[in-house]
Amino acid sequence: MCGIIGIIDLSGDVSERLFKGLKLLEYRGYDSAGMAVIDDNRLHVVKDRGRIDEIHEKYDFLTLKGNIGIAHTRWATHGAPDKVNAHPHIDCMGSIAVVHNGIIENFMDLKTELMEQGHRFRSRTDTEVIAHLFEEYLKNEADVETAFVKTLRKLDGAYALAVLTVKEPQKIFCARVDSPLVLGVEGEKVYCSSDIPSLLPFTNKIVPLEDGEYAVLTPGNIMIKRISDGSPVRRAFKELDMGIDEAKKDGYPHYMLKEIYEQPYSIRYALGIQRNYLELMADFIDRSSRLYIVAAGTSYHAGVVGSYIFSRLARIPGLPVIASEFVSRYGDSISVEDSILAISQSGETRDVLWAVEQAKIRGATILAVVNVLASTLTRISRIYLHQQSGPEIGVAATKTYTGQLAVLYKIGFTLARKRGKLGQDEMDRFVDELNKVPEVVEILLKRCDHDMRKLANEIKDSKYVIFLGRGVNTATAYEGRLKLMEISYIPSLAYPAGENKHGPISLIERGIPVIGLVQDDETKKLMISNLHEVRSRGAKTYVISSIDDNDIREVSDVLIKVPQVSAIFTPIVYAIPLQLLAYYTSVLRGLDPDKPRNLAKSVTVI
Ligand code: AGP
Repeated sequence: MCGIIGIIDLSGDVSERLFKGLKLLEYRGYDSAGMAVIDDNRLHVVKDRGRIDEIHEKYDFLTLKGNIGIAHTRWATHGAPDKVNAHPHIDCMGSIAVVHNGIIENFMDLKTELMEQGHRFRSRTDTEVIAHLFEEYLKNEADVETAFVKTLRKLDGAYALAVLTVKEPQKIFCARVDSPLVLGVEGEKVYCSSDIPSLLPFTNKIVPLEDGEYAVLTPGNIMIKRISDGSPVRRAFKELDMGIDEAKKDGYPHYMLKEIYEQPYSIRYALGIQRNYLELMADFIDRSSRLYIVAAGTSYHAGVVGSYIFSRLARIPGLPVIASEFVSRYGDSISVEDSILAISQSGETRDVLWAVEQAKIRGATILAVVNVLASTLTRISRIYLHQQSGPEIGVAATKTYTGQLAVLYKIGFTLARKRGKLGQDEMDRFVDELNKVPEVVEILLKRCDHDMRKLANEIKDSKYVIFLGRGVNTATAYEGRLKLMEISYIPSLAYPAGENKHGPISLIERGIPVIGLVQDDETKKLMISNLHEVRSRGAKTYVISSIDDNDIREVSDVLIKVPQVSAIFTPIVYAIPLQLLAYYTSVLRGLDPDKPRNLAKSVTVI
């Protein structure tokens, strides 16, 4: 996730406001930054690796003079976080500048085509293809707006764009597909940005841009059209009455709820991971004699789901191990034929780093799934996959969990294809369903929010809560327990439902809430009978399931129905109501879900 901003103001220089806006966007990414202005019909660009203040210290952004400009703060997705990959990106002639947030999924094909046409690329980013593509269209298209629309129609993927060209020195061309972009206006001044808070110091008159729209900004005017057919869109501005802090949460009361609702985007970003990186990761896993999946907390739960996925799809046994236990449990048996798949959103969890370092000493291959580029784990891994969830501010992991699952599904399918374990039709059906998960999550968020708020009110004073699952959703039960426990402080338990009769069932008494997860596979009947066992002893059963039949209804005091998906995808879908349940329970108990007591976002101590 990156931050972009653009400003036109004929009455004065824009660099100081671009800088101020960038600082407010810094939470979206901070490994490199840059700014471009047009002055005297020439493009001037300053950019470098590092945080905004460091670059400002070095170059002084305010020396850039001009009444029109764009700027960018980066959360690297393609290409290391360094100067050449920093935005803005320019075309061959240095007459076009582009800043971008998102992922251009077909950038390799476009880049190959443009290089064959003679374009010279400087960076390894996906974004740079936009500048050269626009340049190519401008060679044969006199109308700049038409060339811009032709450029957009060639792009696949998600993007929020702001583009300058010296051919139209008083216009900014913007566009939005599956990446946030808002516009602002204040008299003759016009603005575009990735979020509202970065515009509030300059204007509270906001014009939202919707997915599939582009806009041409000129002094005092915003023209919006649809990318698909160029049809004009009339949209009045909204006069907002909110502070910056409230706006940083996009109007949500807490970062955690904002991040829960970002999941349709963040899952889609994770699913857009480049195929060549997946193939490389799959090669290493395929060649390993043993695969250990090492992580902590929520990431460990993702790893447990991953072990089911790899076994079900590719017949590969992956052993999930809690990071702090890894060395004492397996340290002596690690060898050079083994691979460690470390999963860590921060890439700084000390337990994980320690386990990985010890395995590396013993010759194992280190692979990783991370969310923070340039984190320690990325530097000590042989290869890593970037889940592209964007910064997660809430201490409780939500979008990074489903982002990890999305990446693990992609690895699982890549492995299954490589090992010929799935027929092409079955593979196509699964992959097609996986690509629809972001839409399913979007529908589910709308549908279950009210139910989970109601359910939170029922359990908020419970002595303790029990989560039960089987098979692929045992880990989902673990995750639901952790979410509830860490932000509402209600003692919670989770274990495979089959374990009930081996002891924990003694905890069941009248009125104890049991959250049961049921999916439509070989575990369904057993799970239903486990729920009957606890219900007959007085437990109140709250069942989350994509199944809605008499058996399920008979065992549920409350049934939270989620959209139908194949059993293997239920962990990513069932996580959503559990996140909302934890969030609303915490709030109803008068707690701050963003900052739970005793916890830190990244546990960098052993
Ligand atoms: C999850 O809600 C917690 N914040 C915590 O368990 C977290 O998942 C764990 O500390 C691992 O963090 P990592 O993914 O950054 O390694």
